[in-house]
Amino acid sequence: MRMRKKKNLIPRMEACAALWVKDPAAQKGRWRELMPEAKALRLELGCGKGRFTAQTAATHPEDLYVAVERVPDAMVIAMERCRDGGLTNVFFIDGDAAALSDCFAPDEVDLIYINFCDPWPSVKHAPRRLTHQNFLRGYREVLRDGGEIHFKTDNQALFEWSLFQFPKAGFELSEVTRDLHAGGVQGVMTDYEERFHAQGVPINRCVGAKGPLPDVPVAEGLAARLDGWKVRPVTEEDFDAVLALEERCADFFVLGGWTVSADSLRRDMAELPPKCAPSQKHFLALWREGAPRAALDAVEGWPRPRTLYIGLFVLDPALRRRGNGRTVVTALLAAAKEAGFDRVRLACPLDNEGGHAFWTAMGFTDLRQDALPGEDARPVWIMERAV
Ligand SMILES: C[S@@+](CC[C@H](N)C(=O)[O-])C[C@H]1O[C@@H](n2cnc3c(N)ncnc32)[C@H](O)[C@@H]1O
Repeated sequence: MRMRKKKNLIPRMEACAALWVKDPAAQKGRWRELMPEAKALRLELGCGKGRFTAQTAATHPEDLYVAVERVPDAMVIAMERCRDGGLTNVFFIDGDAAALSDCFAPDEVDLIYINFCDPWPSVKHAPRRLTHQNFLRGYREVLRDGGEIHFKTDNQALFEWSLFQFPKAGFELSEVTRDLHAGGVQGVMTDYEERFHAQGVPINRCVGAKGPLPDVPVAEGLAARLDGWKVRPVTEEDFDAVLALEERCADFFVLGGWTVSADSLRRDMAELPPKCAPSQKHFLALWREGAPRAALDAVEGWPRPRTLYIGLFVLDPALRRRGNGRTVVTALLAAAKEAGFDRVRLACPLDNEGGHAFWTAMGFTDLRQDALPGEDARPVWIMERAV
């Protein structure tokens, strides 16, 4: 539901200046200075008009509360509620839940509430859901070990989907219920919850406690981050489709001095850097709409144990210049980090100026020029970035 633009928004916000933290990044690592006696720091993400925050903070004056809301027209009502209730243990950030780590230091937060977040029903919009594993991984960065996320929603489909997201982001589930108020009202209700409960809609709730991240290899981590793509090792069955992709990407191979053929693909699938074992190499195809649209050769632990080496990355010309390359590489960098690597390295032919500009834009820097083995292979830039 869209909110009507509030009249006098700015003066009303200013009248709540004591609760409104205008520069939350400056508060990073120092939130407890606002209430040194606080037992815990608790956040509510997407607090809306703030009924839950106001009542919870009133019930727990021993804890410090920070509510994050990206729509100021809603947040101003929440701030006025807390101000009028005389609460001194609540503060507000007019910001995005996606950027928590800009405002909070690692381990600074004890508990996060997510109440009735927007369900974004279309699969295409799944990454916008506040319980998407990418968001959950962001919350991990500021939550202490064992810190909890308390999640409530009326939306059954969102709830069932979220139950799979929590473990993927290293949260252990407990207190899972699909009808929280079956035996009478439990805990503080939010504005949305009150409305849905009055209509007889059952409320779902679960708690996720921060534990260790699951041990996922790079390919799995990549697949988990790329909605709408399928990531799998290239098999004999996929060979012809991947060869057709490489042929569509002939422009890339020409710049490196390579030709595309069934033999060259077989060689690339098998070739290993010096002193590497086959188990370190993942020759992957990334599928979309029934065809491989990108190919990626990722070698784990070369040339250093904590470096991931990209031996090949090609993207179907039909998908270029639309942000797809950036999406895949961003996911790959995050997957590499999650799998324990601290650097990603690659070799980009000197003649491939477009490729060099792309990798530079992705944060890679030139280490040195080098020559790859192969009769016609052109000199390359060895490029690297930290993850
Ligand atoms: C459906 S409302 C629920 C409000 C409140 N939690 C309740 O239960 O009554 C979702 C709220 O989350 C806010 N929101 C959505 N995405 C957000 C984000 N990424 N960061 C901060 N707030 C967000 C929206 O502006 C909206 O106020």
